[in-house]
Amino acid sequence: MSLSAEHPLVDGRTTRSPLVRALRGDRPERTPVWFMRQAGRSLPEYRELRVSTKMLDACLDPALASEITLQPVRRHGVDAAVFFSDIVVPVLLAGVGVEIVPGRGPVIDEPIRTASDVLKLRPIDPAALDPIRAAVKLTVAELGETPLIGFAGAPFTLASYLVEGGPSKDQGRARALMYSDPHAWATLLNWCADVSGEFLRAQVESGASAVQLFDSWVGSLSRRDYQRRVAPHSERAFSHLRGIADADDRTVPKIHFGLGGGEFLDVMRDIGADAIGVDWRIPLDEANRRLGGTTPLQGNIDSALLAASWSTLRSHVDDVIDRGRDAPAHVVNLGHGVPPETDPDVLTRIVRVVHGEE
Ligand code: CP3
Repeated sequence: MSLSAEHPLVDGRTTRSPLVRALRGDRPERTPVWFMRQAGRSLPEYRELRVSTKMLDACLDPALASEITLQPVRRHGVDAAVFFSDIVVPVLLAGVGVEIVPGRGPVIDEPIRTASDVLKLRPIDPAALDPIRAAVKLTVAELGETPLIGFAGAPFTLASYLVEGGPSKDQGRARALMYSDPHAWATLLNWCADVSGEFLRAQVESGASAVQLFDSWVGSLSRRDYQRRVAPHSERAFSHLRGIADADDRTVPKIHFGLGGGEFLDVMRDIGADAIGVDWRIPLDEANRRLGGTTPLQGNIDSALLAASWSTLRSHVDDVIDRGRDAPAHVVNLGHGVPPETDPDVLTRIVRVVHGEE
């Protein structure tokens, strides 16, 4: 299936953007930069819009979700928008009771702990994704030449929330299920891959120019478990985009980010990613070495330093840019998300530094 004639990667609006070029392995004149969690509580204009609306209600209101997505682009001049939503949105749309509790994260009404719980999970009805399609279309119409990045949670991270019932320290219950009932585990991860995969596909078909798969909890896994019991399911999530390409057969660039995934960056790449997001724990020159020097990298400013003095942060940003020069291409980002207490002016200043304006 090909992308529609109005898609920004087909009509050419975003094809030459620094982000898309870098993700395809090129070094554009301007190094692209965006921030994970750039839309959100660090922005006063976001806090104002969200006062009377719950997080997941905001995600399903196309006009509100679109406006929140655009806020950081207007304010910081970043090279991409990232769709305002959440990794648990497709889980909710597939009928699972979930809420996002402020200061805590997603909490599941009835955790999925047994084979019979897994069998009750239903596939996502394509019509349920209509608010997502509408929000993406509104956003892309406003963005012009700035690409929109769509995203989804990777199966392991989603399954961890479903099994644990909420955020957890080391995903112990989820990892126990992986060994005690490998069949239920595989069924659960396939279900997660399919809801996330359909969520990705809806965003791409509606106009996203790149996607990112977030695996925020893989840091609790060994390389062996990741390779055998998790990675095939992440591959399945990406496979929902198979066959989606422009007339020249160019696919939509896929970024894969795993927090604490430094021991298996190559596995994360080999399941079908075009670029690898690196957290702050591994310098980019070392990540590039581990990947054999062939993969575009994204990252990896330490979010903790956003609260340090400007001169400390500035030398860190310069170091990240320097170490990124070994890789075939570099998209500057943080090593994880923007902390809510971040001074937004600091983010704007980083964008200026990356763009060579300061
Ligand atoms: O700007 C962006 O990056 C786009 C939007 C985005 C959100 N969540 C919005 C959000 C993205 C990409 C996510 C992904 C997400 N959600 C991940 C993967 C990335 C990561 O940070 O590791 C995870 C693990 C979640 C689950 C989740 N949702 C958590 C842990 C939280 C924080 C809870 C809290 O209050 O601290 C959320 C809520 C959430 N998702 C907020 C935002 C802007 C904050 C909600 C609020 O404003 O109250």
